[in-house]
Amino acid sequence: MNMALSPANEVSETEFFRRDVIAGLRKEQKTLPCKYLYDKEGSRIFEQICELSDYYLTRTEAGIFRDHLPHMAKLIGPDSVIIEPGAGNCEKVEPLLQALEEPRAYIPMDISPEILLAARTRIRRQLPDLKVEAHVGDFTAPEAWQGVSRQSPGGRRVIFFPGSTIGNFDPEAARQLLADFAAHLSTKDGILIGTDLVKDTVVLERAYNDSEHVTANFNKNLLTRINSELGGDFDLDAFAHRSFYHALKQRVEMHLVSLKPQRVHIAGECFDFAEGETIHTENSHKYTLEGFAEMLREAGFTLVHQWTDGGGLYAIHYAEIR
Ligand code: TRP
Repeated sequence: MNMALSPANEVSETEFFRRDVIAGLRKEQKTLPCKYLYDKEGSRIFEQICELSDYYLTRTEAGIFRDHLPHMAKLIGPDSVIIEPGAGNCEKVEPLLQALEEPRAYIPMDISPEILLAARTRIRRQLPDLKVEAHVGDFTAPEAWQGVSRQSPGGRRVIFFPGSTIGNFDPEAARQLLADFAAHLSTKDGILIGTDLVKDTVVLERAYNDSEHVTANFNKNLLTRINSELGGDFDLDAFAHRSFYHALKQRVEMHLVSLKPQRVHIAGECFDFAEGETIHTENSHKYTLEGFAEMLREAGFTLVHQWTDGGGLYAIHYAEIR
């Protein structure tokens, strides 16, 4: 495993976290970068979200894969190398790896070394002939791609990016990320990517305000993290989770709302909150099939195929560098 990047350089990790938190909370609209939602506890709560009945995304995406894997495997062809940025527990890729014709290698990338090690062991047991090359690092940082070979001797290299993770980037950043992905690929290589689709507000808002409050716990875990890692004094009961769909921007926004006027201290700094003032913690952008095809084109890809479920809730897109 390529451990060169993250070897728990904890001093600087905490320092980056501190800087990002303070910069975000000093803004007019207070904000916190969403990547910090995924510490060990955050990743555990996120797995619970994926199992909620209100949260249709995970199971709908899995259903599309189940129904169309042979077609996807045929388009990708033999001897492929699958690269997965932000792989997490690497569970989503397994059916694809099983369906592909003699895949050559699987390259998961994630910021968490523990989760990658466990996944590597599991995949090696299931597919003993597959080479698994885990890379520890933040896939949005160019350094994380060092050592990810640029050429595959036989088949295609395909970036696998499921889970509507692209939706958590603002459109400008999403386009840039896709262009960066394209820059790591060569002619004929591809991308297999999942996006949530624009739909009825009620359905969208239910998915991000589940009745069991798991999403609320996920959102508030960020405050817990600030308290424990940066010595903050957020009163968790004085903030509430709120998500809503912003139709014009085609995105679900997640906020933490201050329930009273209050002052919070973090690492020697003070932050004042008015009653009703929010910290914007995450966006989840929704796309139309045409809208996302256009974004892929702008990033340098040629669309090959799009699959959706019967209800038109979710889409998986396959595109190549031509
Ligand atoms: N990318 C998925 C989505 O936008 C998963 C996700 C990211 C999510 N952050 C989340 C789900 C916060 C619920 C809450 O839906």
